[in-house]
Amino acid sequence: MPLSFATDIRPLFRDDPDVETMMSIGIDLSSYAHVKAKAKLILSRLEDGTMPCDGPWPNERIALFKQWITEGMQA
Ligand code: HEM
Repeated sequence: MPLSFATDIRPLFRDDPDVETMMSIGIDLSSYAHVKAKAKLILSRLEDGTMPCDGPWPNERIALFKQWITEGMQA
């Protein structure tokens, strides 16, 4: 089974500060459609370690997000 946004990806984002802060910057990390549309930009910031602002994700988490993209970004 491919990874899904609801089950595998959404829980990676903290309601606060991830969703809360990024909402005010124009990216809704709680929205499947929005994360799908911005996936490349999000991945680039996860990979360069500049997001989240309070500490980069471990590689396994980034790999999971990448896998979700590769598998076609299921809801
Ligand atoms: C996993 C969680 C997060 C992801 C995936 C994420 C993703 C992103 C992305 C893709 C941008 C670039 C937006 C653009 O160029 O239009 C950005 C910008 C920004 N984010 Fe986040 N973010 C996360 C968490 C946070 C947190 C926790 C904070 C601070 C509390 C934060 C603060 C900012 C700020 C201030 C900017 C604008 C300045 C900049 O581009 O560096 N983000 N974020």
